[in-house]
Amino acid sequence: MHCLPAVAVLLILGLLCGCVDTATVHEWCYNGDVCGPSAWITKPFGSCNGTRQSPIDISTDRAQTDQNLSQFSFSDYEDKHIMKEIVNTRRTVKVILNDSVEITGGGLQDSYHAIEFHLHWGNLHSVPGSEHKMDGKHFPMELHIVHFKKHYNYTLAMADPTGIAVLGFLIEATDDKDTPLSWKLLTSKLDDISHNVTSAHLNLSLSLDDLLSGVNRSKFYRYPGSLTTPPCQESVLWTIFEEKIHVSKDLIDLFAKRLVHYPKAAVNITNIYRPVQPLNSRTILASPGTKAGPLLTTGNVGGAPRLSVPSTWLLVVTTAGLSFLR
Ligand SMILES: *[C@@H]1O[C@H](CO)[C@@H](O)[C@H](O)[C@H]1NC(C)=O
Ligand SMILES: *[C@@H]1O[C@H](CO)[C@@H](O)[C@H](O)[C@H]1NC(C)=O
Ligand SMILES: *[C@@H]1O[C@H](CO)[C@@H](O)[C@H](O)[C@H]1NC(C)=O
Ligand SMILES: *[C@@H]1O[C@H](CO)[C@@H](O)[C@H](O)[C@H]1NC(C)=O
Ligand SMILES: *[C@@H]1O[C@H](CO)[C@@H](O)[C@H](O)[C@H]1NC(C)=O
Ligand SMILES: *[C@@H]1O[C@H](CO)[C@@H](O)[C@H](O)[C@H]1NC(C)=O
Ligand SMILES: *[C@@H]1O[C@H](CO)[C@@H](O)[C@H](O)[C@H]1NC(C)=O
Ligand SMILES: *[C@@H]1O[C@H](CO)[C@@H](O)[C@H](O)[C@H]1NC(C)=O
Ligand SMILES: [Zn+2]
Repeated sequence: MHCLPAVAVLLILGLLCGCVDTATVHEWCYNGDVCGPSAWITKPFGSCNGTRQSPIDISTDRAQTDQNLSQFSFSDYEDKHIMKEIVNTRRTVKVILNDSVEITGGGLQDSYHAIEFHLHWGNLHSVPGSEHKMDGKHFPMELHIVHFKKHYNYTLAMADPTGIAVLGFLIEATDDKDTPLSWKLLTSKLDDISHNVTSAHLNLSLSLDDLLSGVNRSKFYRYPGSLTTPPCQESVLWTIFEEKIHVSKDLIDLFAKRLVHYPKAAVNITNIYRPVQPLNSRTILASPGTKAGPLLTTGNVGGAPRLSVPSTWLLVVTTAGLSFLR
């Protein structure tokens, strides 16, 4: 953020991962009938019953190759000093990124600046933990790097159907103990935030490129979707990469073992992912080079589907935002 007031920063930290509870967005959770994903589709939780919700199952043989999904350009993904703070939000762990980090290309019409990254996991490496599935298969963990359209603040990003670009990476478990070094370094910080809602300053020499090592970032899938936590705003252009990040079982297990929150007593943070949602009428696009289906003939499906924004939407979002002031 360039010079956003503290309130705006709170909004961003709050709604993206739900670490601030509000009157407008109901107290939500991942496990349980009252506040879990099956309850999110009711009104108090926001737009979670919409028609372009996330996550989804990416069926690669039904995806349509689109030549316009060109290579991304990544700015400051190689910078080893852009991770500023690590936060235990009680529902995930997230790392706040410097806003000099940017992406362009990849079939996106605009450039987008990074806000934070966070993770979704299950309960140790042997059970599902990813939000997206690929060809019906869950993975133990998933990394989301969240970007807002350039110059957008939270309010504007949420109100624009293409306001947010999230890069999603599926994480596969390996037997190679303590690897890769980048993930060992990141997980070494989990103990600093293992209790209550806490955050810790980061002074790691670690880049996003380091965390994404081994993934060919020219092979990806694209679809229009939503935030995967309430209020489930339908303002996200999703990119899910075909290749997986490989992280050892012991490092994956640290997330469920070390991260604890305290509603009343200490509870391990586990199974923090939303189940897959209906695709409805959406088309999943694939970049050239993926194992996806036949080429589209030009003039068929566009890169980023254009949806019209109801005129009341901005107002509603703004009002929801204001409730944070209380
Ligand atoms: C976001 O930016 C818009 C346009 O610049 C501005 O009107 C609005 O007040 C900003 N919202 C916040 C929460 O900073
Ligand atoms: C969710 O949306 C569907 C389709 O529009 C509708 O039939 C259903 O009643 C809605 N569910 C809730 C809980 O609002
Ligand atoms: C963080 O972002 C600011 C503003 O974009 C930039 O001036 C600064 O160099 C960045 N810091 C790092 C460590 O990249
Ligand atoms: C966390 O909060 C709970 C409830 O407020 C409190 O009992 C506990 O001592 C706190 N733990 C730590 C490590 O601060
Ligand atoms: C950050 O790490 C560097 C190198 O390890 C060290 O020289 C510096 O004092 C540290 N800064 C803070 C604020 O801890
Ligand atoms: C969290 O998980 C670890 C390892 O499974 C276990 O030793 C620890 O007791 C758990 N903590 C809580 C509060 O359940
Ligand atoms: C990444 O994938 C593309 C498309 O399949 C391929 O052309 C390129 O050589 C790959 N890059 C690397 C470094 O393997
Ligand atoms: C690709 O982009 C060009 C130029 O923006 C556009 O004219 C064309 O329709 C796009 N093709 C597809 C398949 O989206
Ligand atoms: Zn996420």
